[in-house]
Amino acid sequence: MKNKNIVPNDQEKCLQAGRYIVSTTDPSGRITSVNDVFIEYSGYVEEELSGSQHNIVRHPDMPRTVFKLAWDALQAGEDFYGYIKNLCKDGGYYWVFAHIRPQFDGNGEISGYRSVRRAPKPSAVAAVEELYASMRRAEQASTPDKAIAAGLDVLRGFLASRGQSYEQMVVSL
Ligand SMILES: Cc1cc2nc3c(=O)[nH]c(=O)nc-3n(C[C@H](O)[C@H](O)[C@H](O)COP(=O)(O)O)c2cc1C
Repeated sequence: MKNKNIVPNDQEKCLQAGRYIVSTTDPSGRITSVNDVFIEYSGYVEEELSGSQHNIVRHPDMPRTVFKLAWDALQAGEDFYGYIKNLCKDGGYYWVFAHIRPQFDGNGEISGYRSVRRAPKPSAVAAVEELYASMRRAEQASTPDKAIAAGLDVLRGFLASRGQSYEQMVVSL
């Protein structure tokens, strides 16, 4: 569950190059395992994370649209790549470049998901921060049922101005 009692602050905890934050979930996004780096950066102990929905680290600056894109890809059996700002237990934050991939059982059914996150380039974070802020503004200016469409409009405009697909943008930043 999202912890609504956490007050976000501007203390950044920079993920170091060469360190990887890893977690796995069940098909609903409930955390089944985390590595030590996840614990270190999020500030939670393992018992608080295991069994919780992954939105326990959701930061309010993140557009809903990004998670919609992620879940659409994952539920279609595809990988998702994206920049994510996560909320620490103490209100701080950490940016990651995330790769999330579905895991399949012997029958080819999705049995869960695994995410490996690495340090993003500072220039990529600067670009995405601005883009996400515009997407959030568009989502918030819209009614809840039209928020994703509004966020997608902003994202499409950004991609069109760069002449890139989402995947091209993510790897080129
Ligand atoms: C394997 C996996 C890893 C995820 N990692 C994150 C993450 O690091 N941060 C995050 O906010 N959401 C992550 N999510 C997405 C969350 O499940 C959730 O969709 C998101 O936090 C938005 O939550 P909300 O719809 O309750 O606002 C992950 C999902 C999966 C399946």
